[in-house]
Amino acid sequence: MTTYYDEIGGFETFRRIVAKFYEGVATDEVLRPLYPEEDLGPAEERFLLFLVQYWGGPTTYGDTRGHPRLRMRHAPFAVTPEAKDHWLKHFRAGLDQVALTPEQDEKFWDYVTHAAQFMVNTLE
Ligand code: HEM
Repeated sequence: MTTYYDEIGGFETFRRIVAKFYEGVATDEVLRPLYPEEDLGPAEERFLLFLVQYWGGPTTYGDTRGHPRLRMRHAPFAVTPEAKDHWLKHFRAGLDQVALTPEQDEKFWDYVTHAAQFMVNTLE
C-alpha cells in the first residue's frame, strides 16, 4: 500500500515543508514568544516527526513521545485565533515551497487548517 507520505516524496518533502514553516516561526512576533526553548531545533524535529507519522511514515514520533494528545500538549500555550492565523500563514509558505499537485495540497491543507482550529484554546 502506498501511503500519502510516500506519494508526496517521503521524508525529504516533509523536512522541507517543516523547515520553511519554522523559518517563518523564528521571526514571527506573535508565535516566537510562545516557544519555550531558545533553540527551535528540537521543536522543529518533534513537529516533523509527528507529521511524518500522521501521514503514514515511520513512527519515530510515537516511539519517543508516546500518544500525541496534541490539544493537551498545547494547553500551556495561549493559542489565540491570531496565533492560529500566523501559524497557518507559515504552514502555507511551507506547502507552497514543495509544490504538490492540487489534490495532494488540498488534502494536507485541509488537515492542518482543521487541526489548527482545534488547537485554539483562548480568545486573548
Ligand atoms: C494553531 C496554532 C499553533 C500554535 C501557536 C502552536 C504552538 C506550539 C508550541 C508553542 C509548541 C511547543 C514547542 C515544543 O515542541 O517545544 C507546539 C508543539 C507541537 N505542536 Fe503546535 N501549535 C499550533 C498548531 C499545531 C498544529 C495544527 C499541529 C498539528 C498538525 C501542531 C503540532 C505540534 C506538535 C506535534 C508539537 C510537539 C508535541 C510534543 O511535545 O511532542 N501544532 N506547538
